[in-house]
Amino acid sequence: MFTTQIDQLLAGLAQEQISNLQELEAFRVKYLGKKGIVAALYAELKNLDGEAKRLAGAQINDLKNQVNAIVAQAAQDHESRSNVKSLESMDLGLPPAFKPHGCQHPLTLVTNEVIDIFARLGFTVSTGPEIVDEWTNFTALNFPQNHPARDMQDTFFVDNMPGYLLRTHTSGVQVQELLKGVLPVRTISPGMVFRRDSDATHSPFFHQVEGLYVDQGVSFADLKQVLYHFVNAFFGKGTDFRLRPSYFPFTEPSAEMDIAWVRNGKQGWMEIMGCGLVDPAVLSNCGVDPELYTGFAFGIGVERLAMLRYGIADIRVFYENDIRFLNQFAAL
Ligand code: DAH
Repeated sequence: MFTTQIDQLLAGLAQEQISNLQELEAFRVKYLGKKGIVAALYAELKNLDGEAKRLAGAQINDLKNQVNAIVAQAAQDHESRSNVKSLESMDLGLPPAFKPHGCQHPLTLVTNEVIDIFARLGFTVSTGPEIVDEWTNFTALNFPQNHPARDMQDTFFVDNMPGYLLRTHTSGVQVQELLKGVLPVRTISPGMVFRRDSDATHSPFFHQVEGLYVDQGVSFADLKQVLYHFVNAFFGKGTDFRLRPSYFPFTEPSAEMDIAWVRNGKQGWMEIMGCGLVDPAVLSNCGVDPELYTGFAFGIGVERLAMLRYGIADIRVFYENDIRFLNQFAAL
């Protein structure tokens, strides 16, 4: 008796009308609701025993599964119907919604270009941490203990980490790479550096690309030739540059390189890097025999390259994230 009732319910499912969301919900509640048909049938099971109970239980499960399947199918049908509807109501003649395109920052563009030029000469790319110990940033690089660059005025020391600071230059990566003890070394190291300094041409953080080549028989002529190649590749053939004698604790001899510029009828020189032959003291500090090996190093100012390349007079525009400035690099 009970089982024929369930049979009829099963057969009746095919007659159910579901043509919208309300009808779907009404159908679901009618069968699966707390006071619905399936719950009522389960409640009656307790009046049966043995084989009859097992049979009826299986039938109710079957009914429940079929109802669930109908609900899922109807929900899916409804969704695809409404997608079609929203496509029909869409005006395909309208222009698409404006989504701004990102672009690379000019400093990234310039850094990548420098990396490309030196990679073609066989330089690998290495990076070091922005927080370094004083030994790596200064001592190993032959800075005397009382050098003014070690002063609080010039350097951000890290609270609670005595002896650690935000690196003031990328030259510490030279130390890191030499300490690996694998020679020859030919590497460039791009990265951000930090100094207590701020005006139109100085920012408390800026970017450098360090270069290091250590091998047997490396000379100043090699340095000059590599830099000559770099200037021609980056600024174009025939760009005027000069090397001025200078001083750095970690190079001997040392020089600075200037690039000629002309703007609004004025002309001048802009310094873009320091360079020199690696001081033998630096080599010994890093476990390299200075009797056997020599090398050259350089540290390029990325902002300076970008200012020259794009005719920018104030370094601060690089960090203001003004979309009108950044958009000018979208096509580059
Ligand atoms: N580290 C120097 C600075 O930040 C730049 C520099 C000069 C790097 C000479 C070098 C070098 O590798 O040889 O001012």
